[in-house]
Amino acid sequence: MLLSGKARLAGVVGWPVAHSLSPRLHGHWFARYRIDGAYVPLAVRPEDLELAFRALPRLGFLGWNVTIPHKERAFALVHRRDAAAERMRAVNTVLVHQDGTLEGRNTDGAGFWAHLLAEYPDFDPRSGPTLVLGAGGAARAVACALLDAGCPLLRLANRTAARAAALAADLDALFPGRLAVLSWPPPAEALGDLALLVNATSLGMEGQPPLALDLAPLPQAAIVADLVYVPLETELLRAARARGLRTLDGLGMLIHQAVPGFSFWGGRIPEVDAAVRDCLLEVLHPTG
Ligand code: ATR
Repeated sequence: MLLSGKARLAGVVGWPVAHSLSPRLHGHWFARYRIDGAYVPLAVRPEDLELAFRALPRLGFLGWNVTIPHKERAFALVHRRDAAAERMRAVNTVLVHQDGTLEGRNTDGAGFWAHLLAEYPDFDPRSGPTLVLGAGGAARAVACALLDAGCPLLRLANRTAARAAALAADLDALFPGRLAVLSWPPPAEALGDLALLVNATSLGMEGQPPLALDLAPLPQAAIVADLVYVPLETELLRAARARGLRTLDGLGMLIHQAVPGFSFWGGRIPEVDAAVRDCLLEVLHPTG
C-alpha cells in the first residue's frame, strides 16, 4: 500500500461494518493502480451519523460509501443527490466536492444494469416482461434500472403483499402502466413470457431457506439473476443452469456499483475483471 501525507482517503460508513466487502474491493483497485490512498471501514453508530458526515470532509475524505442501516438517513444528510438517489430515497455513495458540499448518489441499480450488460451485451430489456422477487431497497434499485432501460412490463412479487403494492404504486408514478403486482409465491403463468427473473429477496442467502420456485415455465431465452452472493451459486442459479438458462450472480452488481465512487476518489475508472472478482472470492470462499 502506498500511503503518503497526501493520500486520497475514502471509506464505507455502516453499523456494523465488519461484514462489508468494500474495503477489500476498493483496496484492490488502489493497489492495482498504485494510487497513493486508502479506503477504510468506518463503524458509525446511527446516533453519530450526522456528526460523521460533517467530520469526514473536514478530515480530508474525498467520499465514502454508505451501507446498512444508514442509506435512508444519508439521503437527508447530503446537499444534493443524483436522479437515482432521488428515486430510491436512499444514498449509497457520497462524493465531497471542492466547495465542501456533499453529493449523494445511488449506484445500486446502475450496478445491476452494468453487470447484466457486461455479461449479456445482447440482452434487450424490451424483449419481454421482467419479474422481480422482493420489495426492499435492492428490488427497488433493480426495478428502476430495468424500467429506465425500457422494460415494458415489470412484475413484482413479495411475501408481504402490501410492500410490493407500495413499491409498485411508487414506481407507477414514474413509469405509468408498466407495473403489475403478483401473489406470493408467483404463479407459474407469470413466468412463461419472461425475459428476465431477478431474486431480490434474501432467500437463498447462507443461513436462509432457498428460493423454491419451479423454473420449468420459463422460456429458454430467459435470464435468471440472483442478487445474493453468499453463496455465489444459489439453489436458484443452480436450478437455472441445470435447465440450460443463462444466469447472473450477485457479485457483479456489488463490483459494478462501486465503479462511480472509485472513479471519483481513486481518480480513474477502475476495471471490472476476473482479478477483482477473484480478490472478493478469496474472502467469500477461502481455500485452505
Ligand atoms: P434489501 O434492502 O436488501 O432489499 P430488505 O428490505 O430486508 O432488504 O428485503 C428483503 C426481502 O427479502 C424482502 O422482500 C423480504 O420480504 P418481506 O417484505 O415479506 O419481508 C424478502 N424475504 C426475506 N425473507 C423471506 C422469506 N423467508 N420468504 C419470502 N421472502 C423473504
